[in-house]
Amino acid sequence: MENVFESSHPLVKHKLTRMRDKNTKPKKFRELVRELGALLTYEATMDLETTTVSIETPLTTTRGENLKDKIGLVPILRSGLGMVEGVWELMPSAEVWHIGLYRDERTLKPVAYYNRLPVAPTVSVCLILDPMLATGGSAVATVDILKNWGVARIKFVGLIASPEGIARLHGAHPDVPIHLAAIDDHLNEHGYIVPGLGDAGDRQFGT
Ligand code: URA
Repeated sequence: MENVFESSHPLVKHKLTRMRDKNTKPKKFRELVRELGALLTYEATMDLETTTVSIETPLTTTRGENLKDKIGLVPILRSGLGMVEGVWELMPSAEVWHIGLYRDERTLKPVAYYNRLPVAPTVSVCLILDPMLATGGSAVATVDILKNWGVARIKFVGLIASPEGIARLHGAHPDVPIHLAAIDDHLNEHGYIVPGLGDAGDRQFGT
């Protein structure tokens, strides 16, 4: 599917396998979320634009390139939090804007319970970070929020997706590239991705 990218990098496959293992403890699991967040972001940012600058090396003047865009990291609470540190190591000047959503039991629609975005956008590219793209409801709602905020370019970076989640996000926002470590088989009746890795929040936070 256009605009859906499943990593073929051996390091990504290896680390994801460690994450899926039910015997992997929270400390190691958190390390893997952080590392995979960085590896996938490296792939997702391949097409960012740069501007040419002139700099002085100790020997001479030369030309270099700086990132053109101001980047925002948007972790979806709570399991997206673990991906921030890894991505921040690559882009220390990125702004981090948290979005918290819960599902209304009556309407089954995502409702934002935490959103402190200022009125005008402060970034031009946003990376939405969420390890699990399950039903796609939170991802679609987050893209809606960021588009309303006025962000020009939005990308989704996740670890595992269900085909259902991809179809929902891609169907609502085909312009948003989806970067993943793996596309799994299906969603079960409880909304878990199968084979998946269980609850990414519980496994990071030991709950
Ligand atoms: N959220 C998770 O943490 N795991 C799933 O499998 C689906 C949603």
